[in-house]
Amino acid sequence: MINTLNNNIKNINQLSIGIFDSGLGGLSICKEITKQLPNESIIYLADSNNTPYGEKSKGEIINLSIKNTELLLELGCKLIVVACNTATTNAIDTLRKKYDIPFVGIEPATKPAALQTKSGKIGILATKGTLNSDLFLTTSHEFRDKLEIIETEGKNLVRLIEKGLLDETKPLLEKYLTPMIEQGVDNIVLGCTHYSFLIPIIKQIVPNHITIIDSGEAVAKQTQKVLEKEGLLNLDNKNVARTFYTNGDLNVLSEFLQRIEISADDEIVFRVF
Ligand code: DGL
Repeated sequence: MINTLNNNIKNINQLSIGIFDSGLGGLSICKEITKQLPNESIIYLADSNNTPYGEKSKGEIINLSIKNTELLLELGCKLIVVACNTATTNAIDTLRKKYDIPFVGIEPATKPAALQTKSGKIGILATKGTLNSDLFLTTSHEFRDKLEIIETEGKNLVRLIEKGLLDETKPLLEKYLTPMIEQGVDNIVLGCTHYSFLIPIIKQIVPNHITIIDSGEAVAKQTQKVLEKEGLLNLDNKNVARTFYTNGDLNVLSEFLQRIEISADDEIVFRVF
């Protein structure tokens, strides 16, 4: 099932971790994976041309996730991180059934917020596609009789982030977060990987006593666990390559790579897919 275009690869452990997102949001996960697993080669796919996934139907999200997975497999990946809450909550079950390769996903951290809250009220900021997904509805249902969950769609945030217009998200964030703050939440879950890039702006709006929950580090730890379990860790620190594919704006991609401190030596490839 796993194939590779790279003839230098001697064993499966040297294959890359494939990461995909509807665009640049998954780079926040990529940053944590690079920190946690410095020996691992990475192939990142930013499907920016099809962003936002959060406003598409489940069927469309599944088809796009299949297309991304097939390209990553063609490029030679040993594990795929679905670095998108919307794709995970709508498509990861289909991907797991269809492909014989480990997948790691990300979904809103409702459970950690529920375990942590003292006020009994938590906020979740995510896309419409995530909030309407069966996976999210099932997970959040478990906690609804014990606590109040205030969920808000972060409409248009992803569009602005994809254009690199982060500062322009502030009025929208104020609109989405103020009702949560006024209702007394003490934890706000960032249920979309793009929103991690907004944390400095969110901190200007949200009082200090409110915890902002971002799952990037947890996903990196889970990726390590799965690689260990499957015997797929790369123990060799030579020939580590990080390659970034986009079908969107290369300048914005480069700007985001600087934000996550990916070094200039890393290969940046523009490819339409
Ligand atoms: N990064 C994706 C997520 O985590 C963005 C969704 C979108 O494209 O709408 O949900």
